[in-house]
This record gives sequence, C-alpha cells and structure tokens, in this order.
Amino acid sequence: MFKSVRRTIVAAFLATALFAGLALPGAPVSTAFASPDTDVSNKQNFSTDVIYQIFTDRLYDGNSGNNPSGSSFDGTCTNLKLYCGGDWQGITDKINANYFSNMGITALWISQPVENIYSVVNYSGVNNTSYHGYWARDFKKTNPYYGTVTDFQNLVSAAHAKGIKIVIDFAPNHTSPAMETNSAFAENGKLYDNGTLLGGYTGDTNGYFHHNLGTDFSSLENGIYKNLYDLADINHNNSTIDTYFKDAIKVWLDLGIDGIRVDAVKHMPFGWQKNWLASIYSYQPVFTFGEWFLGVNDADPNNVQFANESGMSLLDFRFAQKVRQVFRDNTDTMYGLDSMISSTATDYAQVSDQVTFIDNHDMDRFKSGTVSDRRVEQALAFGLTSRGVPAIYYGTEQYMAGSGDPGNRARISSFSESTTAFNVIKALAPLRKSNPAIAYGTTQQRWISNDVYVYERKFGDSVAVVAINRNGSSSTSVSGLITSFASGTYTDALGGLLNGNSITVGSGGAVSTFTLAAGGVAVWQSTPTQTTPVVGHVGPVLGKPGNTVTIDGRGFGSTKGTVYFGTNAVTGANIVSWEDSQIKAIVPSVTPGKYAVKVRTSGSVDSNSYNSFNILTGTQVSVRFIVQNASTTYGQNVYLVGSASEIGGWDTSKAIGPMFNQIITAYPNWYYDVSVPANTALQFKFIKKNGATVTWEGGSNHTFTTPSSGTATVTVSWQ
Ligand code: NOJ
Ligand code: NOJ
Ligand code: CA
Ligand code: CA
Repeated sequence: MFKSVRRTIVAAFLATALFAGLALPGAPVSTAFASPDTDVSNKQNFSTDVIYQIFTDRLYDGNSGNNPSGSSFDGTCTNLKLYCGGDWQGITDKINANYFSNMGITALWISQPVENIYSVVNYSGVNNTSYHGYWARDFKKTNPYYGTVTDFQNLVSAAHAKGIKIVIDFAPNHTSPAMETNSAFAENGKLYDNGTLLGGYTGDTNGYFHHNLGTDFSSLENGIYKNLYDLADINHNNSTIDTYFKDAIKVWLDLGIDGIRVDAVKHMPFGWQKNWLASIYSYQPVFTFGEWFLGVNDADPNNVQFANESGMSLLDFRFAQKVRQVFRDNTDTMYGLDSMISSTATDYAQVSDQVTFIDNHDMDRFKSGTVSDRRVEQALAFGLTSRGVPAIYYGTEQYMAGSGDPGNRARISSFSESTTAFNVIKALAPLRKSNPAIAYGTTQQRWISNDVYVYERKFGDSVAVVAINRNGSSSTSVSGLITSFASGTYTDALGGLLNGNSITVGSGGAVSTFTLAAGGVAVWQSTPTQTTPVVGHVGPVLGKPGNTVTIDGRGFGSTKGTVYFGTNAVTGANIVSWEDSQIKAIVPSVTPGKYAVKVRTSGSVDSNSYNSFNILTGTQVSVRFIVQNASTTYGQNVYLVGSASEIGGWDTSKAIGPMFNQIITAYPNWYYDVSVPANTALQFKFIKKNGATVTWEGGSNHTFTTPSSGTATVTVSWQ
C-alpha cells in the first residue's frame, strides 16, 4: 500500500519533470540528433565531447552566503592566492544561462570538489589558501566554499539537463601541506573519513603517509614515494587507505559524475592506480584521464606505457606543448606539428582517448605575451578538429592572458558570447557529435609547408579536411591537394569566421587550386550514411569478465550480431544492447589478457579491430612484492613474472618492472606495487633483465595467495 502510493508520487514527479523539460540526475537526455554514442548518458566515451576546464573558485559567485570570512577571502579577486567566492551555484547559474551550451561545450571539468583545509598557509610571508582544491582533508565531504551536497546534485542535474557531463578533479596522491617535524604547520596533512579523523602526518602510527622527504623528480621511484613539494604523500600500500579511496570515489560516482581527472598520476604507484581503476570500472565506468606532466619535446616511454597499460587516459602534454611551440612561441613549424600527430598515433594505443589542450592552470595562458588573437583561434580550431578529447581552459574564449601560477588563474574576465574565439568553438564543437571522422577518425597529412598544414580526418566513409595557415601576412596557393571527398563543392564549416574558403573537388578527390588566406582556417566535411560497421571507441579498455563494455561507432545496424574479443564470440543475452552506433556487451570469461575487439553485423560484415582490451583475471588488489638480495651487474634490473596475466603470464617480455631499489627498500632489495587478482594463489619468480638477456631465479616457484580485499606485502629472497 505504502509502496504503491510512493510509486504514484514518483511517477507524478517524473511526469512533471518530463513535462517541464527537466532531466533527472543521470537520466539520458535525448535531443533530435542524438545517437547513443554522442549522448550525455555515455560516460565511457568522451570522443564526441568538448571539455571546458573550470577553476570553481574563479568562474562565478552564485551564492555569497558560502564565502569564507576573514583572511582567506578576497571578494575582489585581486589577491589570487585567496578564495574569490566562486562556487557550484555559480556554475549552475551559467549552465542555466546557456553560456556553455551556446558555446557547444558538452563537459565541464571542475576543481577537486572535496573538503580542503581551512587554514591559511604562510610561505615566506605570503598567505596561501586551498582555493584551487588540491589540499584535501576529507575526500568524502564537499568543500563548503564550493557548496553543499545539494548544490553539487543541482549542478549535476542542471548540467545533464543541458546535455553537459560533469568531470571532477581528484587528487588521491596527497592531502595538504605538512612538515615532518612540526605538527603545528598548516593542518598537519590530516585526513578525515566523512568527518572522523583518520590521522595526521606527524605521529603517523598507522602508516597512512610516506615519510621520505620531498621529491627531486630525479626518477619515477623518487617521484612516487617522496612528497610532491610539501604535500603529505599518501601511502597507498595500506588497506585502510586503499579502501578509503575506493569508497571515496564512489561517493562522487553516486552523485552522478561522468568523468574523473586524476591529479599527479606520475606520483602514485601504477599498480595501486590500476587496482583503483578496476574497482571504478566494475562499479560505474566513467571516462578517466590522468595528469602526467611533460615538458617541451619530452616523450617519456613511461608515460606511453602508463597510457597503454593502466586503463586510464592521459592529458596529452605532447600535443599541448607542440601546439604551443607552433602557434604560440614559433619555435617549431607545421612539420613538427605533423610529426607529433603521427608519433602520438603510433605510441598511444587509444590516441583518441587522450585529452588535448592548449593551456591550463599549470602553464602560462596561451594568450599571455605577444600572441595574437588569431593564433589563439587557430590553436583552438586545431584542437577541436584533431584526434583526442579537447579541453578548453576557462577564459581562453575571452582571450584571457596571465602567466605563472596564480596569474593564469584569475576570475573569468567576461561571459561575452560574441568573441571570435567563442564563435570558433561554437562552430566546431558540434562537429565532434555530427561527424564521426572528427571524433574517431585517423589523421593524414595532405599538404604541408612551414606555415600551412592541411590534414584529413577519416572514419569509415566520413571525412573532414582542415587547412590552417599560421602566417598572418601571406596567403598560400594550395595546388595538387588530394582528399577522400567525393566530387562536389564543400563550404567552410566555420562560415568564413577565420577567412576560410570553399573548395571544389573533382575526380579522385582532387581539389582545384585555391588560395588559403593569410591567417586562414577552413574546415570542410562530409558524413555520408555509414553502411558498413566501423568501431571508433571501446570504453573502458580494461575490465574483468562480467563487466559491461560500451562499443561506439557507426553502421552496426539495428539487429543484434556478434562482438568478438579476439576469436571469442559474445552473443545473445551477453549483448546487453545493440544499436546502429552503440553496442553494450558483457566481457567474456576467457583466458585473461589483451584482445582486439571487433563487431560482426547480423549480415556477417566485420568491422575493423579496436586494440587492445585488457581482460583482467578478476577483482584486483594492490600487492607489494619485495625480493631481497638480488644483486645485479651494471645494466641489469629485476622484474617480476608469474602465473597470472597481471604479472605477465610467465612471459618475460611482459614481466612487471623494472622494480625499485632505493626508497621503500634499498639495493640489493627490490620492490614494486602490483595490481593482481584478488583471492588468488599466484606462482611467481623474479628475473634479471638486461635488454633481451634474461636470468631466471633458480629453485621452485614462489607462491602467494592474494587477499580478497585490502593491500598486502610479500617478501622473499632471491634464489
Ligand atoms: C598538479 C596540478 O595540476 C597542480 O595544479 C597541483 O598544484 C599539483 N598537481 C598538486 O596537486
Ligand atoms: C616458466 C615456468 O612455468 C616456471 O615454473 C619456471 O619457474 C620458469 N619458467 C623458469 O624456468
Ligand atoms: Ca560563493
Ligand atoms: Ca606519491
């Protein structure tokens, strides 16, 4: 009786909400053009989205009642190290004013939403606050200066109602500033569990933190197990901590978030992160991308390995740094831009999942210095039409300048919708939804000089061609351009906003000679109906049997066919849904390892193969492996290999390592934190590798049964 009354009320609410055109949190919003792969409900795939990165404190103060009082607040936002009053209500107000949807933005990345320290931290006489959100104290509570849980829920529902996803920043590497010898400094890095103190940095008897002083960034190991600056560094090889962070992210997943930007992934054990992600992907898979900072011309193989093995995408610093060199600093040419595009496509297994950008809160704003507005517009146009998920830093559309931190984090200067940059974004962002070549396509250089780059994006039968002339004073005659277009005339999708022209295409995709204006950008495109199957995206790319995986593309047809993981067919009830642009399938229970994913239509036509889905053995736990007395010769390193796919399946080329030997244990003892299947009897050995030369341990295999939850450490001697 009660039940039925409640049901009626819920139904009535639903009817009202639908009638009012409102969406419920998490409910899919359908628009006239939406196909499921491009819908706001698609939390696994951001390839059709454009992200807008917001410093929550710096966008808009929608509720002055939640502002801090006293010395941590400057309502004029002159002192950029203090709180300025911006909050979730302010973002909600701007969502409802259509500022983002008018620009074509479909995802907002907001500051870490969790409760931060309240104290003002004095460095060399200068006051600093946690306005940026990176000084957490309780990952299960909200930062009250940003808002309450209700404010957060309102933000998520307002966003979803406008077809906008919400991505949170999340920083499980550390809590807040702390000093080993002074518990009175700041808030001593204290960590709380939904209001209950777990522990502080000094007197850390539970081992929640590392106590190895600050990193000098000299090696991966140094960066992971020492403090980043003076931030109290979390020890993830601790069961309380591991459970805490798995639960804390669920708090936000339950509040309806659609994605996570993970801070400082280079500074946390990779095995722990993989185990944490596996937990997220089994609970509520959302698009997750990490921050691994790279400098100019830096292409760290560890960064590539992380992007390909962890199950997490990365912010694409190679893309950002190269775009800045070419369009901002004039320290490289279009040849460098093109070679970045091809080398990243080779290196990253899922290049269209990496998050591209032209500036952010840790670098000078693109416009700072003597950069012209046109160069900002060109860099934006390049990002919006390139592979990867573009993220636009708040205020770039208003040509905000500002260098260094916090000069690059001023309050947004204006909400004008008439700047050219705003209108470039407005024109190009929707193409990511309407033309799958832009969301998923390959990139091919079609015409190039120092200043001109013409590139083609192609996915199935869909094509987009973009021409950019960065030279602001000379036009270029482009002759001999070949494209994949059918014959016809193609108009500039920017409508001449950046002086682009139309082109005429004849047979064989040949374009009649045309003049690309000085500083010109033109975008031409076509999207014929796709009749053969093409897979553009699989997400997440890591999961255990039984998880649901989302496969996006075109031309799958409306009748259920077959999904293949390698040669393993998934059919019938294990296909959860099948639509022309999206399939949801259950990860099969087959030999764990990497598989190419392929779709076969009901008419037996095969798609391309999408690399490389990692089928896990099962639920993951993080285990620290230590091997003592493993002396090595110069050039040799110690690795772990063993029975489970997660530890290489006895394949020495997939062994885990090189292990570390300086901080947690020191040479000749080696250690590494590894994501392994839970509650599993593992057999393993350590090997010494020098290039391709492998030296095995003697004796019989070591054995260890992993815990069913929590972390563990296993220590053996080299034999
Ligand atoms: C990288 C962030 O982007 C930066 O702004 C922050 O200060 C550090 N990580 C520490 O959280
Ligand atoms: C692989 C075997 O399966 C394992 O048991 C053995 O210890 C190593 N090779 C070294 O021979
Ligand atoms: Ca406020
Ligand atoms: Ca760390």
